[in-house]
Amino acid sequence: MNSSYWVESTPQTNYPNLSKDIDTDVLIVGGGITGILTAYMLSKSPLNISIVEADKMAMGVTANTTAKITSQHGLLYDYLLNSFGFDIAKGYLDSNEEAIKIIENIVKKENINCDFTKQDAYVYTCDKLSVQRIVDEVSSVTSLGLKAEYVTECPLPFPIEAAIKFPNQAQFHPRKYLLSLLPILEKRNVNIFENSKVIDIKHIKDKYEVYINGNKITTKYLVMACHYPIKNFPGMYFIKMYQESSYAIGVEVEEDVFDGMYISCDTPTTSFRNTTQENGKKLLIVGGGEHKTGATDVNIDDTYTNLENYIKSIYPKANIKYRWMTEDCVSLDKIPYIGEFSNFLPNMYVATGYKKWGMTTSHVAAKIISDKILGNENSYENIYTATRLEPIKNRKEFGNMLKTSIYSLAINKISPPIKSYTELKNDSGGVVNYKDKKLGIYKDNKGKMFAVIPYCKHLGCELSWNNLEKTWDCPCHGSRYDYTGKIITEPTTENLDTVDLE
Ligand SMILES: Cc1cc2nc3c(=O)[nH]c(=O)nc-3n(C[C@H](O)[C@H](O)[C@H](O)COP(=O)(O)OP(=O)(O)OC[C@H]3O[C@@H](n4cnc5c(N)ncnc54)[C@H](O)[C@@H]3O)c2cc1C
Ligand code: FES
Repeated sequence: MNSSYWVESTPQTNYPNLSKDIDTDVLIVGGGITGILTAYMLSKSPLNISIVEADKMAMGVTANTTAKITSQHGLLYDYLLNSFGFDIAKGYLDSNEEAIKIIENIVKKENINCDFTKQDAYVYTCDKLSVQRIVDEVSSVTSLGLKAEYVTECPLPFPIEAAIKFPNQAQFHPRKYLLSLLPILEKRNVNIFENSKVIDIKHIKDKYEVYINGNKITTKYLVMACHYPIKNFPGMYFIKMYQESSYAIGVEVEEDVFDGMYISCDTPTTSFRNTTQENGKKLLIVGGGEHKTGATDVNIDDTYTNLENYIKSIYPKANIKYRWMTEDCVSLDKIPYIGEFSNFLPNMYVATGYKKWGMTTSHVAAKIISDKILGNENSYENIYTATRLEPIKNRKEFGNMLKTSIYSLAINKISPPIKSYTELKNDSGGVVNYKDKKLGIYKDNKGKMFAVIPYCKHLGCELSWNNLEKTWDCPCHGSRYDYTGKIITEPTTENLDTVDLE
């Protein structure tokens, strides 16, 4: 079973599920970093706050991140400057730099032991052809007021062509940070409910009725902190966002582990950081293998093996201790969606599309949303306006999404399956022909078959089989289900229909 170091080194939470109807002032859907921080920022106000979490607190994407706290979100600022101009690029940079300080202040003020350490962050290239991209990024970032450096050497244990260095960034243990905030929320009377999945939301007069486990929460303010918004209309986030999966391994090596946080701008992308484990030994965290969730045109079977072989080419005696993966939402214009969910639904807020940089962005979001609810000004809110439709002008990505949807919703659905179920080997799966029915079947190690109707419960796209994780993944917007059809990742709120082959 693959599980992250963050999960393995912290205890599980145990909050009650919602078992009766309640009224609250603010309901936060989702107990990840966004939900917890939004609750924290609101919790000193007189408002009554509640969080509902479908699973356990801080066990979603946040439990499977690499947890670099940085405003360096890949090579972004040259693109932002050229596409949106100085004010947006500077506001993005300043808001994320401010978020690093917010985290540092919370850690100090609440006396949290979460392995928070200051680190330099680098985007590097080993390819001569990409050096100019680094030069341009340094020039853009410097023009925005951050003292970024162009370097040709860094602590990485292999030569690079060039890198951009952001000084004074940070890293932490995300679950230690969040689990330490939960008792503070409890003391401030925030209601926390686990195993409480929202399945429906209704807007009635000036309130929201939110349906969970056969019960209802009535609230004035509703915050969608559930990663991918679970309400399709009128927000229509499904036309302006997709999900991307990435993988990480935690490795012990005999040599000294280098400091700093790194991500390459080459293909494939590789990322590094370290952390100190409970036994005092350093763990090197290596990330990579990214692809669109549910993509059918990539071979993901060898993703972990490729990462492991790569690290063993540098440290031949590397001991692989952890493996994990997750997916994050990517907006089509690379700017997250934070703020009002829709112009038609007052007092409903959303924070999503962090494109794998949610440690700082979640704090930007928590501040913007809590300021909106409390009626405070926030100088960054216009940068992230969630209701904007401009992202779909990104013709390339919008075209890709449209193509995937047409294939998965129409063409794949009407085309007969290529394989018969008899061709499935043990421990593999796929959409197959089973006695003239098109089914999704996984055959376990002993040949036992688990069958599902292979159409996503979100908007009906045909699912693809992920043999690495033994999951059904949706190529359209990234919902994922385990081989028994149980939801792993939103936007879907329903399990798959199953078929008893006996
Ligand atoms: C491999 C990888 C590495 C990353 N590394 C970094 C990094 O180094 N630095 C960085 O800044 N960012 C990184 N990120 C991104 C970052 O981890 C995410 O952006 C962030 O954790 C998202 O937080 P969240 O609170 O929005 O989502 P989540 O943590 O997923 O929280 C959402 C919660 O909502 C719950 N939920 C969903 N549906 C419902 C429902 N219907 N009812 C109730 N609850 C519901 C879920 O169970 C979940 O717990 C990485 C992402 C990936 C994929
Ligand atoms: S996630 Fe939208 S159709 Fe599957």
